[in-house]
Amino acid sequence: MGVCSTWLRMCLAHNTKLVPNQGEANAGPASTYARKSGRNGEQPVSTATLDKRVHDFIGSRRQLFIDGQLVDAKSGKTFETLNPATGEPLATVAEGDAVDIDLAVRAARRAFEDGPWSRMTPSERGRIIWRIGDLISERLEEFAELETLDNGKPLAIARAADVPLAAELFRYMAGWATKIEGNTIALSVPYAPGAEFHAYTVREPIGVVGQIIPWNFPLLMAAWKLGPALATGNTVVLKPAEQTPLSALYLAEIMAEAGLPDGVVNVVNGFGETAGAALAAHDGVDKIAFTGSTEVGRLIAKAATGNLKKVSLELGGKSPNIVFSDADPQAAIAGAANAIFFNHGQCCVAGSRLYVEADSFDEVVAGVAEIAKSIKLGDGFEGETEMGPLVSDEQLGKVSGFLDSGREEGAKILAGGHREGDRGYFFQPTVIADTRPDMRVVKEEIFGPVVVAAPFQSLDEIAATANDSPYGLGAGIWTKDISKAHALATRIRAGTVWINCYNIFDAALPFGGYKQSGWGREMGHEALEAYTEVKAICAQL
Ligand code: NAI
Ligand code: MG
Repeated sequence: MGVCSTWLRMCLAHNTKLVPNQGEANAGPASTYARKSGRNGEQPVSTATLDKRVHDFIGSRRQLFIDGQLVDAKSGKTFETLNPATGEPLATVAEGDAVDIDLAVRAARRAFEDGPWSRMTPSERGRIIWRIGDLISERLEEFAELETLDNGKPLAIARAADVPLAAELFRYMAGWATKIEGNTIALSVPYAPGAEFHAYTVREPIGVVGQIIPWNFPLLMAAWKLGPALATGNTVVLKPAEQTPLSALYLAEIMAEAGLPDGVVNVVNGFGETAGAALAAHDGVDKIAFTGSTEVGRLIAKAATGNLKKVSLELGGKSPNIVFSDADPQAAIAGAANAIFFNHGQCCVAGSRLYVEADSFDEVVAGVAEIAKSIKLGDGFEGETEMGPLVSDEQLGKVSGFLDSGREEGAKILAGGHREGDRGYFFQPTVIADTRPDMRVVKEEIFGPVVVAAPFQSLDEIAATANDSPYGLGAGIWTKDISKAHALATRIRAGTVWINCYNIFDAALPFGGYKQSGWGREMGHEALEAYTEVKAICAQL
């Protein structure tokens, strides 16, 4: 098995067929959608079969989803979402702003206070959430196509990772709807001698929740946010990223089909500075949940001070991936490549700082560079494609800028380092060595397929180096010495530490950041805490 197929296999987490059964996946008569490949400036024309529903969905103007209705923005404004493989318009989408956010917040308030949602039993709520998961699975192909069109990721990855993980998240959270519990507490009140009390706690929904999500995993980020909010009985206004507005709107329709009452989830597309900022500042919002840049995370935290709404943040990272000499070299090499190149490096938790014990440094870094050079870039719909384009021209500019700065500061580029072709937003998988800790490429989040590699000598040294970052989202450790692995894991200040694996996500596994990587946790039962208030009730008997 070659390095490339090893890499793909790692990305797909060992588990899923690359090509689904077209018979079960396609909803109706297939239609043909012409696309041009963005590679090498050759621009060969290829065609792919799009699900008819997807074809129709992107073929007409997409509206906002407020109070169970598809509506235009009050301003009448629209924006184009682009196909990052070509840079060409893909679909026209209503552009919401503060006015539409306000309407959506009011709808969510009504649904929270008077709607059928607030009167449903936890079991009824759970069954609707479960059905959302099932409908996502039934529409796997449609969701995967929308993600590939809008975000650029390979269709095989969307099918194997994004869509099934989103479905599983809803199913996992559906189970929690009936298991939100409080405690009974025995009291010893010193100034009430002899009095008897019955005291207990209940967990209640926070209320109207604003959720702002990014473009790197559009459907999955919507699921991470919506699943726990719904399981705990909140109502939601969701603001998807302007780069990838489509799958959340498709999800809105599916949630209605699953029986979610009007107003429980509202989807308002629009830009960050207008729609997003209005949601973060809105006094009718009780909690705001955000995933995106640390810079905007700070703005969200400030905007929340008006009514002191609750805040949870999942922000940037510069995660260390640490390979010891006693690791299985092939597994570590493939794992290090997967850690940075999965989703084109557009992962908050990307293993973007590769540290290798000195005597294995050359072998491991050469292996990762070899994989980088062998990865096939292309349109996500082409079967051979292992890496698609970056999401936008802005991200391409940002990643290219980092490479320029690395070169200027004297780093050595072992693989990649440049834009690929002149159409679409493709960037070559890149491996950088000969770095110093103060270089921008080492310190800052690049959010592209770019890894910086450096050697280390000892466990004490690498523990300090790994933690030498304002971020603390993830880390990887590769070694056969399990004591060493756990000893280092306890010293790393990060929300997730993977040992002899990377990018393993599960609805049951809490995820989030230490330090400037965020506030709070998503997934697992920890996520429920971010969506509930605890009420203490005390009765004298
Ligand atoms: P961003 O943080 O600007 O955007 C993320 C979301 O926040 C989008 O929905 C956007 O519309 C919204 N937003 C933007 N400005 C806002 C504001 N003032 N108030 C409220 N909402 C606002 O991220 P962007 O510009 O797309 O990417 C820039 C960098 O951020 C990336 O290069 C990467 O380093 C980081 N990033 C991190 C992500 C993560 O998963 N932690 C995801 C996306 C980006
Ligand atoms: Mg931004």
